Amino acid sequence: MTQIQPDHASTQPASRPARTGLAPGWTIDDSADAYQIRLWGKGFFDINPSGNVVVRPGRTPGAEIDLFEVVQGMRERGLKTPVLIHFSDLLERRLRDLREAFDVAIAENGFKGNYCGVYPIKVNQQRRIVEEVRKYGVPLGFGLEVGSKPELLAVMGMTADSPERLIICNGFKEDRYIEFVTLAAKLGRNIIPVIENLTELHLIVSHAQRLGVRPQIGVRVNLSTPGAGRWRHSSGAKAKFGLSLTEVLEVFEFLKARGMQDCLQLLHCHMGSQIHDIRQVTSGVNELARIYSQLVRMGAGMKYLDVGGGLGIDYDGSQTSFEFSMNYTLPEYASTVVYKIMSVCDEEGVPHPTIVTESGRAMVAQQSVLVFDALGANRPDRVTAPATLPVPAEGEELPRPITELWETYKAVSERRLVEQYHDALEARDEGVRLFSVGHLSLEHRAMLDRLFWATCAKIRDRVREMDTDDVPEELDDIEGDMSDIYFCNLSIFQSLPDIWAIKQLFPIMPIHRLNEKPTRKATLADITCDSDGKIDRFCDDHDVKKWVELHDFQEGQDYFIGVFLCGAYQETLGDLHNLFGDTHVAHVRLDDDGDWWIDEVVHGDTVREVLSYVQYDVNDLSAAIRRECEIAVRDKRMSAAESQAYIRAYEAGLSGYTYLETGENPVFNH
Ligand SMILES: Cc1ncc(COP(=O)(O)O)c(C=O)c1O
Repeated sequence: MTQIQPDHASTQPASRPARTGLAPGWTIDDSADAYQIRLWGKGFFDINPSGNVVVRPGRTPGAEIDLFEVVQGMRERGLKTPVLIHFSDLLERRLRDLREAFDVAIAENGFKGNYCGVYPIKVNQQRRIVEEVRKYGVPLGFGLEVGSKPELLAVMGMTADSPERLIICNGFKEDRYIEFVTLAAKLGRNIIPVIENLTELHLIVSHAQRLGVRPQIGVRVNLSTPGAGRWRHSSGAKAKFGLSLTEVLEVFEFLKARGMQDCLQLLHCHMGSQIHDIRQVTSGVNELARIYSQLVRMGAGMKYLDVGGGLGIDYDGSQTSFEFSMNYTLPEYASTVVYKIMSVCDEEGVPHPTIVTESGRAMVAQQSVLVFDALGANRPDRVTAPATLPVPAEGEELPRPITELWETYKAVSERRLVEQYHDALEARDEGVRLFSVGHLSLEHRAMLDRLFWATCAKIRDRVREMDTDDVPEELDDIEGDMSDIYFCNLSIFQSLPDIWAIKQLFPIMPIHRLNEKPTRKATLADITCDSDGKIDRFCDDHDVKKWVELHDFQEGQDYFIGVFLCGAYQETLGDLHNLFGDTHVAHVRLDDDGDWWIDEVVHGDTVREVLSYVQYDVNDLSAAIRRECEIAVRDKRMSAAESQAYIRAYEAGLSGYTYLETGENPVFNH
């Protein structure tokens, strides 16, 4: 895709600094402020003097990976963007952060219980990620959480060498699932099925009795504390999961009647993902700890208090109670959970439990960055007004909307901006109406558009010169309406589904050229044939804005954009819209000398693979192409060499990446 060429010079005064002559006075600190990287980056991301984004996996200045270099390095290995880059050392750091936060909170509060973080693998089930969480988690005493039978079978196979690790089984469970869990317990695994409904209880007890196992059992309670934010329905009266208090008591009585009350060892709740307000944690944990304590006093064998997930990520760096931020830090979260549980247990006179958290997002979100290339840009303000209006033919007049727009265009002045904006809209609408009933020619319709955009650009340029506080409300959107569209080599539906599904905000910024002032404001469009495949909401300082600042797109030069903090949920929720498949994935590490290296590459889907996912027999497709070629040769529409080139192009396409592979050589040369 190419840049849409201007037919005239831009109305913007010299808005295009040459790459060689950087904007005077613009520094990487200005870029850091513009993109707020030091706020949402939390020490993991910054900009180096070359103007490239760096990743500091251990938050140690100097021990850093230049993201632009990684992308270039991947290209040298034949791996083009889009690419998802995982930073294994950053993942390890996050797991340690979690452990350390709870260790500090436990020590500071004099809490006598223990702490165990479990990773819910649904948050990112990619084999390599789960393996790393398991590996780094072993010395930290961490376990894993599963929510389905397939997840359980994967985890069981992966943890055969560490049977003492806690495995928590949530989600709906049928006979087979529970029989398997019971056998795993017999094998010596530290595994706890969490009851989601009473049928599961009956199955657990009957399998345990049949197999002679004394099971550890958990129960998920549905708190009355209302949830908050996007996932507020994960708790409260209308929640999909969890037992009411009456049912929890029923579970206890059922077990007691069979002399199994000591088996009830874990109480669980999940108040929703991305809890942005610490007050919700405080009240939810308080309620949970009360229920826990009462169960202990009634004689249940309680040991674990599982507060579920919810620990947030500060996606916009504002550290507020905005839904894609959080008004607390990790140490504050740990301290709140530990202190609340301890004070309730002390009041109720019961021993302190082992606290379990199921914080998946907080473990894996930061370790992934998606990098893609811009393919071209559409700039509405490249269209400018002509120097004069065309002279109408003898006896004819120019249509009124055109002459009115022309007058408005010429008269744009700061004092009448709102009025002139409305005049422009009205004239444009009137012109469109006339065209639709056949009273405006195609040439005049095109002239109308041209004058309209030129007028808007002029008004926008005046608005930019004003103090923000003086900008009239009616013109708030003009910047967004006039923003460029950068066409980008990615599928939102495959790589960032939450942007489409729940309007999730991620930090998005170029990964290079950051010692150069970004002069364009743009939205991003992906390469799917779907108008929803776009990004038009971006993090702003305490707000959401409709564009992101980007550098002028230059034809023939690479421009790479990164989406940060996208390691949670995106990979497995992605879909095959337009048959764009999984992107390449690179696992990048930093060695002790400060050099980065690629530990593992997982190649993205080929076209052949995605076709087979939707039940095409690729051999049949190839055979049909070959036959068509032979007929074309027989009928002399193609030479044999051309037909072979066509077949080679088809086969190369099948083995190729599903994304745009720009710059490839032609298959056939005369
Ligand atoms: C039962 C359970 N535990 C843990 C999690 C992970 O929570 P988070 O996204 O806060 O990491 C979820 C996610 O919804 C969940 O349903």
